[in-house]
Amino acid sequence: MLIVGGGQAGFQVAASLRADGYDGPIRLIGAERHPPYQRPPLSKGLLLGKMDRARLLFRQPSFYPAQAIELRLGERVDAIDRGARTVATSTGDVLRYDRLVLATGTRVRPLAVPGAELDGVVYLRTIDDCDELARRVGEARRVVVVGGGFIGLEVAAAIRLLGKPVTVLEAAGRLMGRVVAPVISGFFADLHRGRGVEIVLDARIASLAGEAGRVRAVVMADGTRHEADLVVVGIGVLPNVELAQAAGLHCENGIVVDPHGRTSDPAIFAAGECTSHPNRFAGGFARLESVQNAVDQAKAVAAAILGRPEPYDEVPWFWSDQYEVKLQMVGISAGHDRQVVRGDPAQGRFSVLYFQEARLLAIDSVNRPGDHMTGRKLLTAGSPVSTSQAADETFELKTLLPA
Ligand code: APR
Repeated sequence: MLIVGGGQAGFQVAASLRADGYDGPIRLIGAERHPPYQRPPLSKGLLLGKMDRARLLFRQPSFYPAQAIELRLGERVDAIDRGARTVATSTGDVLRYDRLVLATGTRVRPLAVPGAELDGVVYLRTIDDCDELARRVGEARRVVVVGGGFIGLEVAAAIRLLGKPVTVLEAAGRLMGRVVAPVISGFFADLHRGRGVEIVLDARIASLAGEAGRVRAVVMADGTRHEADLVVVGIGVLPNVELAQAAGLHCENGIVVDPHGRTSDPAIFAAGECTSHPNRFAGGFARLESVQNAVDQAKAVAAAILGRPEPYDEVPWFWSDQYEVKLQMVGISAGHDRQVVRGDPAQGRFSVLYFQEARLLAIDSVNRPGDHMTGRKLLTAGSPVSTSQAADETFELKTLLPA
């Protein structure tokens, strides 16, 4: 077993294979020099200095030798020879495989404007990025965050909590527009503004201006300047498919896999946010950037390799923490034709239920964890929910669950 990628999905494939009885050799190759760790805290607790670093690791380093998992860190797989069933790595080694798993994840999308290479322009993806960002926030006088999506807003919240002035520049007309309804975008815009974050929507960045190689300001298309000695960019991610593509595997918005994580080569599987997989909750193929997807897809891959196939068929869910507010999302709302608000945004606790032709597609919840948990079960079961039941706060949604 050779697993490429030491993130959430790659780790889970290795751990599940061992836990479920695979007794052959397992090699896990990761480009980062840290043992596999959780990424969500990097824009939350770890950045705030509120989380013990040891807790970031999925397992302590001794786990790997104890489980006979050969962990090769700081190494990249550069090429796959499908005929010979080998990979070539950055250390010059050629490694054989019977089964190969690609869990190559995503990388940050670079900001493509003049000045983007200036010192003081940073991204957040890895522990090392988080350490650098934390150090730079400590020294910064004014921070600009480019991108009002999940990373941008979580980082903006952390920087405010650390006491520094922040401006968020979002290209779209509202925050987190890729995923949530306008009422939720509006709620979070008010939340951040209330904490002193300046939010600029429909932002068009022309360039970054510098002085002696260091960033000094973000210059907008209309000439406005936002002064900053630190610019954090969070404008989405790109799937790492080049290795698969060069090996001739079918790729289209990710490495295309079946419900068992099989690629177009029967000896090669893929899992996590680098894959495009059939997803009934999305009504077609989807590439999902979430912990849930990485874990559940990895388990399906391990089961298929062990000869006990269980198709990946979990309802997608996501979360984001900003200040003390918890946003939880379940299902895929794309394609909805109706939405119902449950609860009162003014009270800071509400959910939005999305429907398509009277069928519940998704629920986004703000500080209403009960709605989220019930939503996971309702969507998994496909239980009918009416819009009037959804809107009526006194109606208990969980009574709609199958006995
Ligand atoms: N200028 C300003 N904003 C931009 C630009 C730009 N040039 N290009 C894109 N944006 C905005 C998008 O409109 C979007 O609101 O950046 C935001 C990116 O948000 P996401 O797609 O949510 O991506 P990001 O926040 O980078 O998160 C990346 O990490 O935590 C995970 O779930 C998260 O999968 C997501 C990933």
